[in-house]
Amino acid sequence: MGGAGPGPALEGAKVRLRPPTREDHTLLYDWYNDPDRVAPYDRFSATSYEDLLGELAAAPGDPASLAARYIVERRSDGRSIGMVGHYTAHPVLSIVEVWYVLGDPAARGQGFGREAVGLLVTELFRTLTVERIGATCDDENVPSARLVEGLGFRQEGLLRAALFHHGRWHDVRVYGITRSEWAARPSRGGI
Ligand SMILES: CC(C)(COP(=O)(O)OP(=O)(O)OC[C@H]1O[C@@H](n2cnc3c(N)ncnc32)[C@H](O)[C@@H]1OP(=O)(O)O)[C@@H](O)C(=O)NCCC(=O)NCCS
Repeated sequence: MGGAGPGPALEGAKVRLRPPTREDHTLLYDWYNDPDRVAPYDRFSATSYEDLLGELAAAPGDPASLAARYIVERRSDGRSIGMVGHYTAHPVLSIVEVWYVLGDPAARGQGFGREAVGLLVTELFRTLTVERIGATCDDENVPSARLVEGLGFRQEGLLRAALFHHGRWHDVRVYGITRSEWAARPSRGGI
């Protein structure tokens, strides 16, 4: 499996994805430390500014890094509305997982998230040798589940009581799409 570097910007109809720069650090720090923005359905832990800078700097050379790989910019006004990432999820299996957060809640529900993840998946299949891209989400995270289902991901399983957050254990959906399924999916709005 090759490693995906910080690469060029990925252009969609509504959003463009670009690697984070120094100018994004404060915004990312604010998002990472607001549990309502990043973790309404996930485990949360605070991130120090120094740790964030270290993780962002190390990410391009580390396929397992959970750091943000791209900033999601809205094309209409150039505003940074979110972030997406990918990471190798297993020491042996060729599994790459994607994650996604619209840090600006006002930007949610307008198709930006789905387009951003679609651009990312296309780029990962283009640059990596993996045959499957995965995603996981809390069983109760309806927007996240619908986002990947709308892109053609299939639910492959349910990990019972796999994620502890907000005071209790949650089931987690496992989603995946193969390279051939991605290539054959009907195009929706260019994605
Ligand atoms: C998950 C997230 C990235 C979705 O991004 P988004 O831009 O709002 O999603 P989209 O507008 O592209 O919509 C994707 C699907 O979710 C649905 N959806 C969006 N918001 C929804 C809501 N609040 N309730 C129900 N469905 C919703 C949309 O209708 C669409 O499904 P459809 O095409 O089948 O109708 C965004 O909600 C978010 O940042 N959430 C907080 C962080 C998070 O949970 N990340 C995922 C962790 S696994």
